[in-house]
Formats: sequence, C-alpha cells, structure tokens
Amino acid sequence: MQIGIPKETGQHEKRVALVPESVKKLISNNIKVLIESKAGTDSNFSDTDYEKAGAQISESSVKVYSESDLIVKIDKPTSNEVSLIKDGAILLALLQPTTNIELIKQLKDTGVTSFSLDAIPRIARAQRMDVLSSQSSIAGYKAAIIAADNLSVHFPMMMTAAGTMPPARGLVVGAGVAGLQAIATGRRLGALMSAYDVRPAVKEQVESLGATFIDESTAERDNTETSGGYARAQSEEEQNQTQALLESAVKNSNFVITTAQIPGKPAPTLITKAMVEAMKPGSVIVDLAAESGGNCELTLFDQIVIHSEVKILGPANLPSTMPQHASQMYSRNVASFIDLIVDKDDTDPLTLDLEDSIINESLITHKKEVVHPVTLEAINNA
Ligand code: NAI
Repeated sequence: MQIGIPKETGQHEKRVALVPESVKKLISNNIKVLIESKAGTDSNFSDTDYEKAGAQISESSVKVYSESDLIVKIDKPTSNEVSLIKDGAILLALLQPTTNIELIKQLKDTGVTSFSLDAIPRIARAQRMDVLSSQSSIAGYKAAIIAADNLSVHFPMMMTAAGTMPPARGLVVGAGVAGLQAIATGRRLGALMSAYDVRPAVKEQVESLGATFIDESTAERDNTETSGGYARAQSEEEQNQTQALLESAVKNSNFVITTAQIPGKPAPTLITKAMVEAMKPGSVIVDLAAESGGNCELTLFDQIVIHSEVKILGPANLPSTMPQHASQMYSRNVASFIDLIVDKDDTDPLTLDLEDSIINESLITHKKEVVHPVTLEAINNA
C-alpha cells in the first residue's frame, strides 16, 4: 500500500500532513510513502529528511495523487486535485463536510473513500487522533502571543526604578481547547486572566489554571451542551444575556480573546460594537472565531480593524503560523488514525471496520455514497 503526501496549496498553509518521524514509523509497517517535493519545506522538514526516513520524493503532484492508495492532507483538496485521485483510494483531510457540499458530491462521484478528521468523535479512545484539539491548542497559544504583541502595555506587573506598572487584564470568551491554552499562556506571561463559557463544566478547568470564572450562575445552568460535548447554539434571548454579562468584563480588560464556536453554524456574536466602544484606548481583541463570522460584531476575517482606538484582529489559520510543531502534532494524530484504519494482517489492508465508532463517525463518502448522516442532511437541505 502506498501513502501519498501532496504539498499543501492553500494560501495560508505552511503545514505538512506527515512529518519524517511518522513516515519512518509507517514505512517500518510495510507501507510505502510518496511525498511531493518541498511539501515539508515551510515546516522545516527537507526532502532529504524524508528520504532519510525512507520516503520516495516526486516533483509531480499529479503522480502523488494518482498513484497513491491513501492520500493524507491537511486542507480540503481542490476540485482539480480530487479529479486526480484514483477510484477506490482513501483521502484523509479536514473536509468540514457540512459546509463543503460540492466537494463531498465530487468525492462521492469519483469513488473516493473520504474521512474528515474534524469529524472524529471527541471520546477518550480517539484523543491521540484529535487534530481539532492539537491544532486548537496552538491557536490558543498564538492568540495570547498576538495579544501581547499588539498591546501597548506589559502583560506582567513590572516593578522598575521608573515605577510599578500594573499587569494587563485578559478575558477569554469560550474556554474550550483554544481558550484554555490562551488562559494558560496569558498567565505564564503574567497577565491577570478571567474567562467565560456557556458550558458549566468549564468553570473548574478555568479556575485550575488560576483564572477567574466570571459567571457563578453558569454552574447551575444545564442543557448547554450537546451529547458530543460541544456547546449548543443559544437562543437570541440567551445571547443577549451573555452580552449583558460580558459588558463590564470586556470594558475592564486590556485584551479579549474569543474562541466561541458552534460546529457547522455561524459563531455567536458576543461582543457588540457598543462594548468595543466602551473599552480603553489601546485595548486588543483577538477573535479566533473570525472564519465562521467572528464573536465580535466588528471582526473581519484575516484583517485588522481599528475601531475607537481598539484593535480587533481576525487571524486566519493560526496553527499554520507555527508550522513545525503544528505539523508534528497533526502528523502524530494522523499516524494514529492510519494505524486504526489499516489492517496490517489483512491481504487487503484497506478493509474498513465500519463497526468502529471512530471510523464510522468520521467516514464521509464510501463506495460512491455519502455515508455520513449529518452531511447527508446538509446536502438534502442545500
Ligand atoms: P469549540 O471550538 O467548538 O468552542 C470553543 C468554546 O466556545 C467551547 O468551550 C464552547 O463551549 C464555547 N462556546 C460556544 N458558544 C458559546 C457562547 N455563546 N458563549 C460562550 N462560550 C461559548 O470547542 P472545542 O474547544 O473544540 O471543544 C469542544 C468540546 O470537546 C469541549 O467540551 C471539550 O471539552 C471536548 N473535548 C473532549 C475531548 C475528549 O477526548 N474527551 C478532547 C477535546 C475536546
């Protein structure tokens, strides 16, 4: 069996799906690896590193797509890339299938068996394959660094001969994987951190990182999360309540990092224009939900907006701004997933165990059918 690793072609993408360390392990399991030349260069992995790990290098992306049994990518493939994949081959990537319906239809028609790594269930057994967590934690770390870099005050308290400077106050809205890492990084840099989330379970996690949870009443709320562990969408009334609750915390913060998302839906608006206008001049908002519409009313994806002397950043693809570690983590996640789906003792190593919930829930197209119920529903409603 041959795994193909094409060079990523997305505008902001510097990561590579498999790093030499994982390639070496796969090859030791009798798997061949073909990688497009320079696929790892932006993440500091050279063609020579891959050659030393036992991979074959190809100058041609067409060869990588058309001759591999299993294609491993980060971003979804373009229509042209899908057309190169051979019938019956497997594709692993972040497909976001409910919002990329035309792509899913093409994968089905081309006979590609596709897995969307963002659909892997968030269960204990799948933790080592959880690309959402590994990449979100990088985004959270980087968001805190961006906030520090854009503020005109220090994060830590500074006691100098020129006087004592108070620490910066930071607020994190949405304390999931990215939010918790932003809190931890902000604390390490010396800022006073507080946080808010709709899910009550988060309060204890926030406090264990030394931050203040800003709504005691949340602990009594129930029915705020889905069976998959994600927050459910709030009603308009609930969203207004959240905005009212956040008002004074936002006003008193030097920086705010927002990460609140609802899978498959636009991000909730939690910070209004009026709340921005009440912030101190020089304050900073880093909105990690920018791609799905933003948690701040004024956020623009991949842009910096300055409104009433407050800087609002909506950065694109933060994991890719730290490509070496992001690739290493993604690669280990993917190698664990490959380990699960490839049956080394079987004569046809790509016979899928469809009874396994990790395989079953992340499988999107198979044998010219869309087999993922939520994606099917999105296609039918389109
Ligand atoms: P996410 O990226 O979907 O959302 C980020 C955060 O925003 C979440 O904590 C969510 O509760 C919060 N949020 C959503 N709407 C909000 C609103 N209106 N106001 C305030 N906060 C709001 O979430 P992420 O980080 O991907 O985590 C999703 C879930 O998966 C979490 O419950 C996490 O604990 C769980 N998880 C479980 C793992 C496991 O192996 N058991 C591994 C990783 C995550």
